[in-house]
Amino acid sequence: MTTYTTAWKSPSNIALVKYWGKRPDGIQIPSNASISFTLNNCATNTTLTFTEQDNLEIEVSLEGKDEPEFIPKIEQFLKRVSHIFPFVIKGRYSIDTSNSFPHSSGIASSASGMSALALCICDIAKEKGLLSEEVFLQTASELARLGSGSASRSVYGPMGVWGEHSDFEGSSDNYAVEYSEIHKVFTDYCDTILLVHKGQKTVSSTVGHDLINGHPFAEARFVQAKENMTELRKILQSGNLDAFIALVESEALTLHSLMMSSNPYFILMKSETLKVIEAIWAKRKKDGVKWCFTLDAGANVHFLYPQADKEAAIQFIERELKQYCENGAFIHDEVGMGAERI
Ligand code: PMV
Repeated sequence: MTTYTTAWKSPSNIALVKYWGKRPDGIQIPSNASISFTLNNCATNTTLTFTEQDNLEIEVSLEGKDEPEFIPKIEQFLKRVSHIFPFVIKGRYSIDTSNSFPHSSGIASSASGMSALALCICDIAKEKGLLSEEVFLQTASELARLGSGSASRSVYGPMGVWGEHSDFEGSSDNYAVEYSEIHKVFTDYCDTILLVHKGQKTVSSTVGHDLINGHPFAEARFVQAKENMTELRKILQSGNLDAFIALVESEALTLHSLMMSSNPYFILMKSETLKVIEAIWAKRKKDGVKWCFTLDAGANVHFLYPQADKEAAIQFIERELKQYCENGAFIHDEVGMGAERI
């Protein structure tokens, strides 16, 4: 009855070309490839103590407080990854987890949380002699994907690509790969997350992904996403910020237009989301700044700008964007280098 203890810090990420829709012929296989900036400050710290035993037992705490409602999701995750590491369903888990971002900020913790747990499990597999260092991150990414698709991209920095695409060498539907062939402007790009709405989403990502099956625009979307991956790769290398803005904002609005044209249709943006977008557009028109936005599956706005503009962008947030955030809340973040053992 050996006991193992390990701890990882894993970041959140923000997709630029979005994953929305899963193929029906597999578990967590994306309908199109996606690419994201790995974040630096928004992260989950997880300490796992695992004791071998015949049955599966899970105990989980968030910020020191018992969170039994996380157990079903973790149990489902462990069962899904048990074909890779059968030992995972024979043990007692004590999972201690904390997020660097506020608990009820409306920021999804599934990418950082699932990737941190996947990395901890891979550490145990390595100690048991079941996993080599060469495929450590790839395997962690595969496990993370089975927990939450976007989590697969969080283990790497500065960017992660998930989903097979001919322009990205080594890319796969089963795990994400690191992407770092980027112009220096993007290596420390800033992302201030404007917390427009901190509450629970009305429709989960799981439900949203499912609604893409039979969606009237699905096929056209998958073709577009594929082309956008090709286009964005060139932009990331050249540092062409005008092209970056056009592609990234179009991706964000396309994601939300897919939600609005689902059956049943739904809207995750709030009126403040649109006000922030309009303020960014007005600023860009007036001053020619190279600032833009993206959205994930929620109402919050990710405000993206180059590190060199940080001071001016912060002034703009304070003067013009903060008023649209719930209790004036936002989180400054920037591109980070991926997960680390702690
Ligand atoms: O990983 P999931 O199932 O929560 O889906 C994430 C989907 C988006 O955040 C909207 C896009 C993406 O690629 O991260």
